[in-house]
Amino acid sequence: MMGIPLEDRHKVFDWSNRMIGSDDPEYQVSEEAGMRAATEMFMYANSLAVDRKQCPRQDVISTLMHAEVEGHHLSETEFNAFFVLLSVAGNETTRNLISGGMQALFEHPEQRARLMADSSLLTSAVEEMLRWVTPVMYFRRTVTRDVVIRGQKIGEGEKVVMYYGAGNRDEDVYRDGDTFDIARSPNPHITFGPGGAHFCLGANLARLEIRVMFEELLRRLSDMQPAGPVQRLRSNFIGGIKHMPVRFTPEGKRNG
Ligand code: HEM
Repeated sequence: MMGIPLEDRHKVFDWSNRMIGSDDPEYQVSEEAGMRAATEMFMYANSLAVDRKQCPRQDVISTLMHAEVEGHHLSETEFNAFFVLLSVAGNETTRNLISGGMQALFEHPEQRARLMADSSLLTSAVEEMLRWVTPVMYFRRTVTRDVVIRGQKIGEGEKVVMYYGAGNRDEDVYRDGDTFDIARSPNPHITFGPGGAHFCLGANLARLEIRVMFEELLRRLSDMQPAGPVQRLRSNFIGGIKHMPVRFTPEGKRNG
């Protein structure tokens, strides 16, 4: 969708890993390495922008390059920053949700069997995976006016951090928040943010990606099982899985 050439995708993946994994020794050797990854991604975005300006194509980069809001085009810095935002926000989240969702199914075999037996549960299962995994741990807001929340005074200009994982298990909202229930209804999770102007731009794309992935995983790799310890990303921002070894019978072999 973005228009990143196939041969460059590993580069974008690597930059994204190094930016988000800045606290994880596997991806990062120094603070400068994270800064370098961001700079390289900025420069890469710039080179794509130059190309699409001259030869527009049917991709998001070309659309952004030629978009006008109230008579203005995006500035170079705005375009580069948006490219980095889309590349990181659209990849660190969905892939960690998919591996975290699969891990939840491994750990709750009765829920997995229920889903395999009734595919109409997939919609609510995706929402429950979103609630259960909560790949983005928090975002921060700046308070615009003095306010009291649950007896706590918060002054204008102060910073407030919203922990989505905590909200997703709030006892006042969920009676059994620590239960993984693929048929949960209602499920008013805040995994894409609490709402308002900054609600996740990619929420519906993410839901579609997750749904399609599980339709295929459950059908094609139906006997998938864990085959080793799960290694989690060291990060205070993204709840991610770096390695989750699995074993399965390939479709062709299973069918004879
Ligand atoms: C499971 C997948 C995803 C999760 C859990 C997720 C979560 C979030 C969260 C929590 C926010 C901040 C909301 C707030 O501040 O209130 C956000 C913002 C954003 N997300 Fe996602 N996201 C996901 C997938 C995606 C995808 C696929 C894209 C794009 C391709 C995307 C693009 C964005 C953008 C551009 C913003 C910034 C919106 C703004 O501040 O106006 N996200 N996302």
